[in-house]
Parts: sequence; structure tokens; C-alpha cells
Amino acid sequence: MSASLDTLVKEALATGRIAGLPEGHFIDGRFRPSQSGARMESFDPGRGTAFASFAAGAAADIDAAVEAGRRALTGRWRDMKPAERGRILQRAAALIGENADRLAVVESLDSGKKLAEAQGDVRGAARAFEYYAGACDKLQGDSMPLGRDHFGMTVHEPVGVTAHIIPWNYPISTAARGLAPALAAGCAVVAKPAEQTPLSALLLADLLREAGLPDGVCNVVTGTGREAGAPLVAHAGIDQITFTGSVATGIGVMQAAAPNVTQLVLELGGKSPVIVFADCQVEAALDGVMEAIYENAGQICSAGSRLVIEESLKEHFLAHLAERVNGLSLGHGLTNPGMGPVNSAAQLAKIEGMVAAAGARGARLHAGGARAEGAELGQGWFYQPTIIEPSASSDAIVQEEVFGPVLTVQSFASEEEALALANGTSYGLVAGIYTADFGRAHRLARDIDAGQIYINEYFAGGVEMPFGGNRLSGYGREKGLDGVKNYTRVKSIAARISR
Ligand code: NAI
Ligand code: MG
Repeated sequence: MSASLDTLVKEALATGRIAGLPEGHFIDGRFRPSQSGARMESFDPGRGTAFASFAAGAAADIDAAVEAGRRALTGRWRDMKPAERGRILQRAAALIGENADRLAVVESLDSGKKLAEAQGDVRGAARAFEYYAGACDKLQGDSMPLGRDHFGMTVHEPVGVTAHIIPWNYPISTAARGLAPALAAGCAVVAKPAEQTPLSALLLADLLREAGLPDGVCNVVTGTGREAGAPLVAHAGIDQITFTGSVATGIGVMQAAAPNVTQLVLELGGKSPVIVFADCQVEAALDGVMEAIYENAGQICSAGSRLVIEESLKEHFLAHLAERVNGLSLGHGLTNPGMGPVNSAAQLAKIEGMVAAAGARGARLHAGGARAEGAELGQGWFYQPTIIEPSASSDAIVQEEVFGPVLTVQSFASEEEALALANGTSYGLVAGIYTADFGRAHRLARDIDAGQIYINEYFAGGVEMPFGGNRLSGYGREKGLDGVKNYTRVKSIAARISR
């Protein structure tokens, strides 16, 4: 650990605070309070106590942010050469790197996630800006063959002002993967981070200003979904909404967007299977399953929350898995434990309720199954890493997203059965496949209804790979060059040039 990181962590652990955090919304190039003056608190999930306060925004603050964005669209930002936009994004990537320690400590304290995971998220955010910096001057159109008398071409224009509703599980990553391509396309943005984790988006906006982004191009309004999120997604001045969160809220966002016919990308979570065949490399599969469900305490849209395992390997695999799970240490995120707390008291209660209900319906626990308590955990929001085998595949614990460190177990005897189990929920975000049989891996990759397939490494790939869901997991793709397409629209221009 570097000296500065060590000092920041010690200070945050000793005082429960971080000095100099932003306190306002970031609108039109500067921090400013809510027009109502209202504030709310953010909690440290590792202690269950408030550690910072921030502006509680409402419709008036959203109006100011959207107006700032609309003004910015007709100013210096529009007239800037795309290559210069790229240089600003490149500087933003560098500044995220220079401020990585502080960003990671803030992210860890605000969300509860392990410091090492927060550091990875911050590196990923810098990488997103680096990647999309290179796209700015390559968003080129085509010319179409209309014959000698006509000329046809397409241009890719920025869609306008884009809204980004950001969840609490990956605050800086989700902000970066939305903002970087939107800015690369030449849009202006208004981001609304989750009320549980408002801080890193504000810090990011300030770094973008430092990188040279003109005032009003990037705005962040903090506050609750109901008070600040709802007026943003219903705003007539918004041209595109990128929403990451729950299915229920996503449906509400679609309805709010409909009267303005605002286009949407929805990333709504999943119930993703990790399919393990008996011919796989068992150690690699064990590593993969552990990471797929216990990273960030399972609070990942793309978590591998269902182990789908070949019957002949099941007993052996579960014995080793349970041993690893029981060996995971729990602790405050900043101490880099095996697993950190969950993000909120509400989330903890949801997890506890879902596991208890499955138990009452006859599910069998292989590990965990309760809140984690102990002197060293204090009042923090901890849940034991859990493995649970349901009474049936139709059980709610298999069908519904828990968003916690809870792995379900299902088994199969044939490839056909594995496929049926993999496709056997209403979600379609990710599937992991562990097998030595190349043909089988690719047959399943072909037939599984999901936006992402990971073969022999869960979470393989990076910002280069498009990411998004099918069915209840949402629609549209972020990341990769597909991610920029959300923020550009094609204009066709056709002309008669001779008669
Ligand atoms: P949520 O979907 O309500 O919150 C996500 C974001 O939407 C937050 O920024 C929130 O302020 C905002 N929001 C809430 N209501 C809104 C509205 N009417 N208009 C615009 N924005 C609004 O999710 P919540 O309640 O925090 O978590 C509940 C469950 O949702 C979790 O247990 C998990 O299953 C799922 N979830 C999935 C995520 C994913 O990565 N796909 C992320 C967060 C939650
Ligand atoms: Mg917090």
C-alpha cells in the first residue's frame, strides 16, 4: 500500500470521516447547494453509521442541471474539434489515476466494498475514459451509392443531453461507463447517483472540470430516486436515459420517459448461472464461482448467483466450495477482508427475508444462511456468505435476484438439462460456462439467452466488450463501441447533384 493510501485509510478508519468531501450538486461547472437547502446523509455500511452529508436535490435542481446541459450543447463544446474532446477525456483518465487513492477510499467507505475492489473500480473508470477518448474522432459516417445524379451520406450527431441514473453497487464504474461514451459523442450529461453512494460521481465531475470540460457539459445532482431521479427521467430536455437498477424502477423509468418519447438503455440485473461440467478445471471453476458471487458481497447485476453443476461433480465441488466459503473473513471494507458488508440496512433485511423464506420452503443450507454478527463487526450490515440448495428450480430463491452473497445450487445430468436450467429464469444477463469441451462451450454460448457468455473465466473481458441484458435484464448495450451508439444518432443527407 502506498504511503498516501495508508494514511487515508488509517484516518478514515480512526475518525469514520474523510476531510474535504464535496457538499453540493455539481451544476454548470461548480458545486452549489440544493435550491431548497435540503440535505441528507450517506452511511458507512461497515459501521452502519452516517459519515457524510450531501445535497438532497429535487425538481428545481434537475431543471438547473438540464438547462446548463442544454446551454452547453450550443457553446464551446459543440464547436470543439472531436480530437480536442478526446484530449480532455484522456486528461480525465490521467487525473482519475492521479487521484486513485482518494477515490478508492471514498468509494469503499461510501459503498462498503473492499478497498481492493474499489481500487479496481477506479482503475476501470480511468480505463473507460482512456478507451472512449480514442473514439471521439472516429465516429464517422458512410456515403451511400445512389448513382451519378445523387449524393448520399450519414453523419453521427450527439443525441443531446443524456441522463444517467446510477446505482449504489458500482458507483464510479457505472458513472464512468455512461459518462465517458456520452461525452465522447459530444453530448452533455446529467448524472443522478444513488442516494446511498453519492460521493464518487461528484468527485468525478470535478476532475472532468479540471481536465478541461467546459461548464455545463457534466452535471451531477444528488438525492433520492423519488425526489431527484423521477424529475430527471421525466424531463422534456433529456434526449437519452441510461438507467441501471432494479426491474421495478426500470419499468417506472420507461413509463416516465414515454410521454417525451425519450430513448432508453436499461440495465436491470439478473440471476445468472455458472454452469460447471465434470470435465472442467475444478480449481479454476472454484475460483470463478467464488468471485462470481462473493465479490462485492454478491451485489452485482452480473453476479453468478446460480451454480448449475453436473451431478457427478456436485458432492466433491460443494465440499471444496463450502470450505472456501466458511474461510472467508468478514470485516470493514477498508480493512480488505475476504468479504465486506452489504450496502444498506434495507438490502440486509431483503437478503435475510429471502433466505429465511426459502429455508421455510425446504431449502437446504450448505454454508451461511444468517446475518453475520460479532464484536469486530459492530453495527455494520453484514450477511454470511451463503450456499443454499432449493427444494425446486421454481423456488423464488432461484428465480428472483437476491443481490447479496447467496449462491443457489441446481444440478444436471446432461447438456440439454444444463441449457434448460440456464435459460430457466426471466432474466438474461450473463452465463458462465466451465468445461474443457470447446464444442460444448460454444453450443451453449449459441443457445443461452443472455447478453454475455463467459467461458472458463467469470467476468472475463473489459470495457472493449459490449455489456447488457435480454428479457427482464433490460435492453441496449453499454461498453465497447456499441456503447457510443447510445449517445449518437444517425442523420441521412441525400442530395440531387445533376439532372
Ligand atoms: P433502484 O432501482 O430503486 O435504484 C437504482 C437507482 O435508481 C438509484 O439511483 C435510485 O435513486 C434511482 N431511482 C429510484 N427510483 C427512481 C425513479 N422513480 N426515477 C428515477 N430514478 C429512480 O434500486 P434499489 O431500491 O436501490 O435496490 C433494490 C434492488 O434493485 C436490489 O436489491 C437489486 O436487486 C436491484 N438493483 C440492481 C442493480 C443492478 O446493477 N442492476 C443496482 C441496484 C439495485
Ligand atoms: Mg454510503
